[in-house]
Amino acid sequence: MGNETASNQEARPIKKVCIVGASGKLGRYMIQHSLDRGYEVVGVCREKSVHKLDEFKDRIMIFPGQTDDREVIRRAVEGCDGVLTVLAPWGVHDYSSGTAQAVLDFAEPDARLIFSCGWHISLDGKDVYSFRIKFLVSVVGPIIRWLRLVDLNDQVEAARRIFESDRRWTVVRGSDLEEGESQGLPVWSRHVGDPVLESNMTRRTDFALFMVDAIENEDLVHEAPAIVGCQTESALAYVDAAGKAS
Ligand SMILES: NC(=O)c1ccc[n+]([C@@H]2O[C@H](COP(=O)([O-])OP(=O)(O)OC[C@H]3O[C@@H](n4cnc5c(N)ncnc54)[C@H](OP(=O)(O)O)[C@@H]3O)[C@@H](O)[C@H]2O)c1
Repeated sequence: MGNETASNQEARPIKKVCIVGASGKLGRYMIQHSLDRGYEVVGVCREKSVHKLDEFKDRIMIFPGQTDDREVIRRAVEGCDGVLTVLAPWGVHDYSSGTAQAVLDFAEPDARLIFSCGWHISLDGKDVYSFRIKFLVSVVGPIIRWLRLVDLNDQVEAARRIFESDRRWTVVRGSDLEEGESQGLPVWSRHVGDPVLESNMTRRTDFALFMVDAIENEDLVHEAPAIVGCQTESALAYVDAAGKAS
């Protein structure tokens, strides 16, 4: 355990994963997909949300606590080959960046680290955003921060720390989400604004599937894929038979 650099390390076989933010909608889907793959699963969630994991309680180990509680994270990620983290910018006390920092600091040196966020996060500044996303970030963002509900800048800060780290990270950027049966693994592109992403909709279970699948996808190390449902209009129009965005 520790915070040694790990970008050059070989992929380790994945046997045990930790899901940070396990009791949310995305987290519960990730638990199911991880169990389906035969992984041993550890989950971190707020004490008051442990009951949301009742359906899994005989199959996973739960560490109750705030996801930015460094001691909880240190214990939970010990021995885990992959860590799936829901970055949720709740409140105005750096919850998201505190969570990311704890995972970066304490995950096993060669563990695969997969983080979730929205399209508004940018790895290289080359994303092209719609008016709606710009409006949400520049107008709605400050209002919800003023109400002390959500701090979008905290998620930006969390992502900045991840991007600067040489851990084996992937930051998965989700489109708008909907519930429903799985349609299969979402398609992805490096930049928001690329035509393949135009439909801007992914089933939440498939967002979770992409996160879990990314653990064993070495091509996604140090990438921030923006995803969209594989059955959406834009995905069907722009992905060729080989499954690549054209
Ligand atoms: N919703 C969208 O349309 C959308 C779109 C694109 C990307 N995303 C990304 O998807 C991820 C999860 O989104 P989601 O909408 O599906 O949410 P979610 O899975 O329901 O997750 C929300 C998480 O935040 C925690 N949480 C809720 N209220 C909290 C509070 N006041 N303090 C601390 N933690 C709190 C929840 O834990 P408890 O179970 O303890 O409440 C849960 O772990 C995020 O990374 C988000 O950026 C979402």
